[in-house]
Amino acid sequence: MTTVEENRRQVHRIFEQVAADYDNPSTRFFPFCADLLVNHVKPRPGTRVLDVATGTGAVAVPLAQAVGPTGRVHAIDLSERMLDRAEANIRKMALDNVDLHQMDAQCLDFRAGYFHTVVCSYGLFFLPDMQAALRDWVRVLQAGGRLAFTSFETTAFQPMLDNFIECLPEFGVSLPEGTFSSHRIASSGHCRELLEEAGLVEVQVENVQLGYHLRDENDWWEVVTSTAMRALLDQVPADRLDAFRAQHLAFVAEQKSADGLWLDVQTRFASGVKPA
Ligand SMILES: C[S@@+](CC[C@H](N)C(=O)[O-])C[C@H]1O[C@@H](n2cnc3c(N)ncnc32)[C@H](O)[C@@H]1O
Repeated sequence: MTTVEENRRQVHRIFEQVAADYDNPSTRFFPFCADLLVNHVKPRPGTRVLDVATGTGAVAVPLAQAVGPTGRVHAIDLSERMLDRAEANIRKMALDNVDLHQMDAQCLDFRAGYFHTVVCSYGLFFLPDMQAALRDWVRVLQAGGRLAFTSFETTAFQPMLDNFIECLPEFGVSLPEGTFSSHRIASSGHCRELLEEAGLVEVQVENVQLGYHLRDENDWWEVVTSTAMRALLDQVPADRLDAFRAQHLAFVAEQKSADGLWLDVQTRFASGVKPA
């Protein structure tokens, strides 16, 4: 099995598993980010937009509102269960200008130059060859169109994330080679390089803090179990899970202040324009 196939299988499994719990108050940074991303690209009414790795449709929903009834949003994801949730969220908002497709972000089944805008929120770092994927996204973008993605800054979720990762080996989990997936985009400079190497111009990278206070360590546990961190957690043997949770959450509880538990969600918004 190739690395790409193995990655696709793993990502599909994780998101099928977390889909039911993905939309929850502890991870409200996803829709917060989506609103800012749509405001950043400002798609015009009547235009066609692609939302790559749409998940439960956090970005597709405000995009659909922005392009209006004469515009169209195509939203793709690998996970059928995430797409089922997206469909329910879109229906709840009475939107009928979104098409959902189960499709791999690494080989898009759209013709060249079809979209006025392409966006991807918190999805690029899951792809084994980010540069090749971006080239394909640029292929489907019209000349003059903007492509934008978001990624987590390395401070996001700290210090809880580091402690989560550090506790795992003690509980028999061997960590994957390389870095945690969201750390694969290392810096704002790296975002810029990715976009420039994909042939985009007028590249902008902006850092925005989307964080807030969670109530306590139980809310943090909700973040762990409803995001990609779940993939590592599931490797803890079932009979040691309670002990792992107790050890990790004892550390997390110490981080609380009078306001609650600060969740850092420093996020990079990166975008560029396809030259004529
Ligand atoms: C962290 S979620 C972000 C979802 C959404 N954009 C949001 O902001 O809430 C990442 C999504 O990327 C999708 N994904 C990962 N690899 C993918 C691939 N190769 N092709 C399509 N979707 C992929 C996952 O299934 C998951 O729904």
